[in-house]
Amino acid sequence: MTEQPFQAALAALRNHHQEAPKNMRAAFASDPKRFKNFSVTDDDLLFDWSKCAVDATTMGLLEKLARVVDLEGKRAAMFAGQRINITEDRAVLHTALRSPRGEAIMLDGHDVSADVHGVLDAMAAFAEDIRSGKAAGATGKKITDVVNIGIGGSDLGPVMATLALAPYHDGPRAHFVSNIDGAHIHDTLKGLDAGTTLFIIASKTFTTVETMTNAATARRWVENALGAKAVSSHFAAVSTALDKVAAFGIDPSRVFGFWDWVGGRYSLWSAIGLPIMMAIGPRNFRDFLAGAHAMDRHFATTPLLKNIPVLMGLVGFWHRAVCNYPARAVIPYDQRLSRLPAYLQQLDMESNGKSVTITGGAAVTPTGPLVWGEPGTNGQHAFFQLLHQGTDFIPVEFLAAAEGHEPDLKEHHDLLLANCLAQSEALMKGRTLEEARRQMLTKGMKPEEVDKIAPHRVFSGNRPSVTLLYRKLDPHMLGRLIALYEHRVFVEAQLFGINAFDQWGVELGKELATGLLPVVEGRENAARSDASTAGLVEHIHRLRTP
Ligand code: F6P
Repeated sequence: MTEQPFQAALAALRNHHQEAPKNMRAAFASDPKRFKNFSVTDDDLLFDWSKCAVDATTMGLLEKLARVVDLEGKRAAMFAGQRINITEDRAVLHTALRSPRGEAIMLDGHDVSADVHGVLDAMAAFAEDIRSGKAAGATGKKITDVVNIGIGGSDLGPVMATLALAPYHDGPRAHFVSNIDGAHIHDTLKGLDAGTTLFIIASKTFTTVETMTNAATARRWVENALGAKAVSSHFAAVSTALDKVAAFGIDPSRVFGFWDWVGGRYSLWSAIGLPIMMAIGPRNFRDFLAGAHAMDRHFATTPLLKNIPVLMGLVGFWHRAVCNYPARAVIPYDQRLSRLPAYLQQLDMESNGKSVTITGGAAVTPTGPLVWGEPGTNGQHAFFQLLHQGTDFIPVEFLAAAEGHEPDLKEHHDLLLANCLAQSEALMKGRTLEEARRQMLTKGMKPEEVDKIAPHRVFSGNRPSVTLLYRKLDPHMLGRLIALYEHRVFVEAQLFGINAFDQWGVELGKELATGLLPVVEGRENAARSDASTAGLVEHIHRLRTP
């Protein structure tokens, strides 16, 4: 990015912040077209940001900033497979994972799309064999349970999507083990029959200690129950490190590869999606990919101020870098998206939680916000108090489907939607002291009581939220939504001036854990650790002493 034009565009936005709408009730009252002007649709997906404190000038200035950072050029570079992940010298081509068959995507003179479809076909054949019972367990029994062992990007996407698409689930039961805490694999295997269980070991690098430790435990469990020869019938693997998979002893016909141009947190479209495919079947999985591809087309071709990922990114940047809001809450009014916030935490925070710009300098604006959330309506009965009356403003992203999958429970869905709409309206409108007083007096409360209590019943309002509204959470729509979030992260990264595709920040803790293991085991002393760490280790040993 060119420093001076960027600083000038940022300064213009920050100056404008003083004049941007402050009173959202007034903003809606003075502009009957506010919803129309600050919402866009892409087919049956609507994005509404009219309840955010922006006006036409804000959007114009944000668009200008996007042009200063050459968002369109950077977007084209990503789609074209340029090595935009400069710290790892890699292309970023997760979009190729969902490109239609026959559409060549060239990287270093090679058509990666052909490779992608080769792996998809192999996955589909394997998934069908497992789902039909053709590929049975070592004792001849049909596989009824699939346990995916992976962590981070090799876990969160499949977990989130498998749950989101539960109505389409007609394959074996899906389980996920990620944590190195032995409790996770112990509780998952309890009740499973080794003879009917398939493990998928999913790891891009095939070195991640959590995954390797859990995989070894799973292999012991199968060997103890069925003998060492059974391993080939009960394990499959997904990785870019095929040599390491071979060393683990997994039958090469059950190993599905992907490539270094797929970041872990962008990998659920690759073979990492195998547990999703096992659960919902290859046809539904292809619909999921097609949905993501439709969003890629929208992102690549739609003018900036009609482009949903761009708009979400611009509004996100406005809230984070201009308004200085430190967090954003993602609240799906869609129970089956209950793992979406956790998935987005990796996608967004591992991508944009950086303080160094792509050119190695210090970031000039705050970068990625804290992302968190829980499904509505449950969140309403937990943390919404703080969203409405806390001292910090936390922009909220609401997601909701117009239709559920349970037509006989329509009254539930209507109540769900009414709650979603009510929350965004309440955040925006708030309640004045006068309104609180009037309501209490109307209910017959004594004036002295009203004076005492009314301040507690005031809501400031003017708290920003956006809403994503879609017809139904089917595989195609889920694909569109996830690709939308991926592209929004990309847009924000360009505005922050950072590389969204590395994750050096996760390394230090891993290195220290390796050094601390012999200390925790008691084989080495804690002399090299700081006093706090040494004290904690000593206390662990004391607590373990009978
Ligand atoms: O520790 C972070 C990370 O490297 C993520 O980026 C990645 O998704 C996860 O670990 C798992 O890595 P792998 O798939 O190589 O086991």
